[in-house]
Amino acid sequence: MAAMRFLLRRGSAAAGGLLPAHSPAPTPTSFTAARLLQVQTHSSQPDSVTAKPKRIKTFSIYRWNPDQPEKPKLHSYEIDLGECGPMILDALIKIKNEIDPSLTFRRSCREGICGSCAMNIDGDNGLACLTKISSSSDASTITPLPHMYVVKDLVVDMTNFYSQYKSVEPWLKRKDPPPTPGKEIPQSKKDRAKLDGMYECILCACCSTSCPSYWWNPETYLGPAALLHANRWIQDSRDQYTKERLDAVNDEFKLYRCHTIKNCTHACPKGLNPAKEIESIKKLQLR
Ligand code: SF4
Ligand code: SF4
Ligand code: FES
Repeated sequence: MAAMRFLLRRGSAAAGGLLPAHSPAPTPTSFTAARLLQVQTHSSQPDSVTAKPKRIKTFSIYRWNPDQPEKPKLHSYEIDLGECGPMILDALIKIKNEIDPSLTFRRSCREGICGSCAMNIDGDNGLACLTKISSSSDASTITPLPHMYVVKDLVVDMTNFYSQYKSVEPWLKRKDPPPTPGKEIPQSKKDRAKLDGMYECILCACCSTSCPSYWWNPETYLGPAALLHANRWIQDSRDQYTKERLDAVNDEFKLYRCHTIKNCTHACPKGLNPAKEIESIKKLQLR
């Protein structure tokens, strides 16, 4: 596990996510923390003295604007945790509202449903709205998802990730019409239970962007999220394209780049196990 966490941290620091969107494909050494040359500090604290003791926390946040010539940098912001909600997303919203409106990040539901606030928080991929602010006195470092091209600040380009999801044809495919025209296709409770652990995926990409195999082969390896969804439809008793679905992913790169390192399972904020679903597809290929 220590080795896996090292890989994840190394990946987040060496990530292509720290490169501008127009840069060439990232390499393991394309970025080091030393390149974050400019570190500035802004504080939301008023000068007036208050009776309540302050709990100042520093957030070191990746900043890059494609419309400005400066290189990416980590920018430090200080906020009083006594005046902030408990989650990383609360801190980001407070910084944006009160200190720096130019800070850019995605968020929507703020309760772990939409998957849009995925980012790297202190070396681990996760959802900002579900990750508590650390009580440690150390600064929290927040960077984009590793090995993704950056659009601006913490927003990454998800085009390739969504294309891979689309490539597994994540919808019900039938050769026969429904047993009762115009009605649902029945499914036993046992068959429905086979989808547990897969249908809950919110496509946040925390798993795929923590996977070393995906870092090195992002365009040829489908990655854990797309493969989990491939298995979700392979396992669906109502779908009639199981063999075709298995054939479609039976490829040296699409499927077999997974080496069961399980960073994906460690990273999933919904507690899913993409590595197990990939193993399930590999076993079905042997039958
Ligand atoms: S188990 Fe497979 S998909 Fe998951 S991190 Fe490892 S190589 Fe990537
Ligand atoms: S499997 Fe988990 S980490 Fe991966 S995309 Fe789905 S919810 Fe996110
Ligand atoms: S804001 Fe929707 S998952 Fe975090």
